[in-house]
Amino acid sequence: MKILSVVGARPQFVKLAPMAGAIAAAGHEHVIVHTGQHYDVNMSEVFFRDLGISAPDVHLSVGSASHGRQTGAMLAGMDQVLEERRPDWVLVYGDTNSTVAGALSAVKMHIPVAHLEAGLRSFNRRMPEEHNRVLTDHAADLCLAPTEVAMGHLAREGLAERSVLVGDVMTDVLLKVRDAVRGLPAGLPASLDGRPFRVATLHRPDNTDDPDRLRSIIAGLAGLETPTLLLAHPRLRARAADFGISLEQGTLHVGDPLSYPQLVRLVMAASGVVTDSGGVQKEAFLLRVPCTTVRTETEWTETVELGWNVLAPDPRHLSGAVNRPTPPATDAAPYGDGRTAHRVVDALQQALGAR
Ligand code: UD1
Repeated sequence: MKILSVVGARPQFVKLAPMAGAIAAAGHEHVIVHTGQHYDVNMSEVFFRDLGISAPDVHLSVGSASHGRQTGAMLAGMDQVLEERRPDWVLVYGDTNSTVAGALSAVKMHIPVAHLEAGLRSFNRRMPEEHNRVLTDHAADLCLAPTEVAMGHLAREGLAERSVLVGDVMTDVLLKVRDAVRGLPAGLPASLDGRPFRVATLHRPDNTDDPDRLRSIIAGLAGLETPTLLLAHPRLRARAADFGISLEQGTLHVGDPLSYPQLVRLVMAASGVVTDSGGVQKEAFLLRVPCTTVRTETEWTETVELGWNVLAPDPRHLSGAVNRPTPPATDAAPYGDGRTAHRVVDALQQALGAR
């Protein structure tokens, strides 16, 4: 079986790592296409290096642009790649512009598409990711769902027959990396070493692109008693500079985005996480570090129901949310057992045989 993975943005490289391992272990051919959506070394290359993924076979180098231009450039590039490689499956990951472009280009060429992390919904139609998810699920021949909740969404949209519950591949990689970095130094800046701290990430346009909202989120973080290390995505830095907002204020410390092992190690050492990233919410839960999410909703509702994640859409309520009591311990495992990638390979093989 020949599987062609389309990836382009940071969280997709993380999900690719366990898939590349499982595809190789099963002796299948794997072609990796990198769209070039993320291109800075610390947004792309370090993930391939640190997670032991071989270099992409094809690089489309599309770079940053408006949604239409970026997605269109990927579509144009994919035609030739699919014509030449003719895989049995195109495997797309998550909810980025690279996901929808990979799926659309493949279905137009009658190549079967499997969507990993299918069925997630925020029901927030302002999010570009929500459209990417819905369009990709409905285009896909096989929807590989991470959770029961995701399976429910797929069923309600009439996609039950094409859907399989496999678990979450991020659990596979997280558990492995957690065990590998345990005991390593947390890598804190000297100013924070030895003190309790929180980790924060912010990159959603709804949070970064409105000056008043961004100003109040930064002020909220900067006013917290416990210091926060903000790992600043390039868009956050750019918007803050455009709006004249200083990120270095109050108890806020600013750092660059980290490699995956560094991020995992840092979260393990933190007393809490504040984020608008989907992946980081789940990583915090799996590491049992309380998370506060600066959004009105989350796709990962299990983290909230189990008490380990609280939504704080209003920055004025950030302090109350982050200072809440520690949640009750749980051994619930809504995101699978760390063997999802192997189940995905089996599901691809089975579905191919049934075609
Ligand atoms: C993208 C995904 C989002 C995912 C996130 C993970 C879409 C619509 N969004 O958001 O779902 O959660 O990746 O990080 O696909 N930039 C750089 N260097 C880079 C990449 C981006 O400087 O290597 C800057 C550019 O100014 C760019 C901006 O960041 O315009 C946003 O990048 P983009 O890929 O469009 O979206 P993300 O916010 O990263």
